[in-house]
Amino acid sequence: MTNAAIGFGGGKIILVGEHAVVHGAPAIAVGIGRGVSSIAHPADRDSLQIEPWGKTWRPNAESEDPLERAFERILSRYADRPPLRFVVRVALPPGAGLGCSAAIGVSLIDALDKALGVLRSRAELGSLALEWERFFHGDPSGIDNLAAALGGLICFQRSSPPRSISPKSSFYLVVAHSGQRSSTKEMVARVSRQLEQRPDWARSVLDEVNTLALRAETAIRSGDLSALGNVLDRNHAILRSLNLSTPRLEGLCQAARSAGALGAKITGAGGGGCMVALATGAEQASRIASALEAEAFIEEVGRAA
Ligand code: MEV
Repeated sequence: MTNAAIGFGGGKIILVGEHAVVHGAPAIAVGIGRGVSSIAHPADRDSLQIEPWGKTWRPNAESEDPLERAFERILSRYADRPPLRFVVRVALPPGAGLGCSAAIGVSLIDALDKALGVLRSRAELGSLALEWERFFHGDPSGIDNLAAALGGLICFQRSSPPRSISPKSSFYLVVAHSGQRSSTKEMVARVSRQLEQRPDWARSVLDEVNTLALRAETAIRSGDLSALGNVLDRNHAILRSLNLSTPRLEGLCQAARSAGALGAKITGAGGGGCMVALATGAEQASRIASALEAEAFIEEVGRAA
């Protein structure tokens, strides 16, 4: 290899089913345009430089740093290769529920594949990135890495291939950052503990999320935004009952609803991170974003390419 090769992994927004998806329920996610790009350069030795964090890592299976162990694991999947230096540009906030670690993993594997001429589908790439995710999230369901690789709207359930969902028409989401960082690993453990302690309640939570995911898919396919908004609100109430909300996230959801959002919820692991709200259209999405007094962006979902 003589030239640099570029890989990409997108962030994601979970519309319904986070946490429940770890325990077998279906979830719906949108892979978004902002994400992580990695450039693989020929080099004398392997290294990983993540630009906004101003640090360089080396592959090391024995390291205490999960990034060095994850880097080693991914490189070990490629036999007889030349050393590579990766320069990674991250355009997602870490610990915000937008799938930053999965996007880094997907972009690195994509860059490696391109540098070494390995051909595989985006779905295969997303599946391989689960090995990367396991170093950071303990027991990841696999939704983040698949959404990062595939983009678009997907319905995902553990142990099944992801299904792509085509919306009847495009719709707008407003995503706002609470300004609080949280650990997905800790939030997943928090939920698992609660579900283990109350198995009957756990079953009813998972059943309800199952129903909500089905309702959301039907609403998306038929363009019923008001039904989709109701699903978001109800899913938020479930996530709140699992102790995943914070006063700041509650404030953001309330402010979004007061500004006319059809529904609003935590997105991702919760305990901080981001809120997502559903708007009736582009203009209203801008109004909601300005009403929030938070770092926010608007994502149009399902626009024809
Ligand atoms: C994190 O983006 C989504 C969770 O459901 C964890 C997972 O599915 O691995 C909280």
